[in-house]
Amino acid sequence: MNILVTGGAGFIGGNFIRWMRQNAPEHRLVNVDALTYAGNLESLSDIAEDEYYHFIRADIRDRLKMDEVFRTHDITHVVNFAAESHVDRSIVDPEIFLSTNIIGTQSLLDTAKANWKLAPDDKYSREYRGNVKFLQVSTDEVYGALGKEGMFTETTPLSPNSPYSAAKAGADLVCRAYHETFGLPLNITRCSNNYGPYQFPEKLIPLMIHNCIQEKPLPVYGDGMQIRDWLHVFDHCSAIYTVLSRGEPGEIYNIGGNNERANIDIVRFIILTLGKTEQLITYVKDRPGHDRRYAIDNTKITTKLGWRPAYTFERGLMGTIEWYRANSAWMERVLSGEYTDYYERMYAPSFS
Ligand code: NAD
Ligand code: DAU
Repeated sequence: MNILVTGGAGFIGGNFIRWMRQNAPEHRLVNVDALTYAGNLESLSDIAEDEYYHFIRADIRDRLKMDEVFRTHDITHVVNFAAESHVDRSIVDPEIFLSTNIIGTQSLLDTAKANWKLAPDDKYSREYRGNVKFLQVSTDEVYGALGKEGMFTETTPLSPNSPYSAAKAGADLVCRAYHETFGLPLNITRCSNNYGPYQFPEKLIPLMIHNCIQEKPLPVYGDGMQIRDWLHVFDHCSAIYTVLSRGEPGEIYNIGGNNERANIDIVRFIILTLGKTEQLITYVKDRPGHDRRYAIDNTKITTKLGWRPAYTFERGLMGTIEWYRANSAWMERVLSGEYTDYYERMYAPSFS
């Protein structure tokens, strides 16, 4: 496969690229990322020179550029991670979420259709070249919130509550339409909350680990009893590769590892592991429209595709805490903003 990985300088995309180089090294990877505040190429510095990996700085909404990337690299597969991904930011500035997450996805779908369809100008044709696929990386947040009981299945109605999740749901529906109307071979995956190395410290787990190490207040929204279903990012990567390789075209697959935890319990686990005091916990005003509980029913991907998560939550979180402890310099460069200079330092000489 020649795989276009969009958003590969972000948390999950970067881990996916590294996971693929270790576990499926026969595939070529082209990373297209606009390097927004969330894109950090430094996280991939160890494979920057790998001959099976190529980075291009570009916006997925730039259709001409996307077409050039498809043609130059003979792209056969797309894994679309590129998105604005942080719920709190979407509450402050929704527009970029709709633009990147919906219009950006549509730009990629059009490019894939134009390059893969055997008769691109025939609107009735549904024939594509062999062995091509578009994988849309979506989220369990498109289903909205659960009460005390129940789990999200692939047929749970979409009911997004934040501008972020509404934009992701919009992208899912556009993907569905491109499969139904044009026959584009695609899958949608909907994963629960990820954690692991290289996550931007605006999200719960890296933020709490960092503040705890620094003995700064730990800001818990509302009563801290909101529940998320956590999955180690390496398990998300193996699930995506499974769906990319063996998923039935047109199907949606939920991804989760049955690890429901209340936010406050995670914060306490981090405090205990780092040997700090619970006095650091600071309850703050709740997030508007805060989803109370998420839980993924993973029956479809486990029974139909044979995927299984490898990490228990406790082992995964201990390893993650250890990673942040050992990589404090990475965290400091992210927090100081210095990481944004990496692209210039690394790539500028080759442009001159
Ligand atoms: P992230 O914010 O860490 O990374 C997003 C990446 O996309 C960044 O590198 C950014 O520079 C890039 N990007 C943004 N706009 C772009 C554009 N217009 N063109 C090209 N690149 C652009 O996000 P993440 O946490 O790694 O999430 C990746 C994907 O997985 C997202 O689609 C998200 O919705 C989905 N997802 C995330 C989680 C989670 O827990 N983090 C769970 C389920 C699904
Ligand atoms: O469920 C998948 C989603 O998980 C992804 O689609 C999103 O891209 C990803 O950001 C994540 O969304 P959440 O809103 O669940 O993640 P976040 O880390 O922002 O928050 C997790 C929980 O912790 C949530 O209930 C809010 C709470 N929280 C978060 C922060 C940053 C706090 O209590 N305090 C905080 O400071």
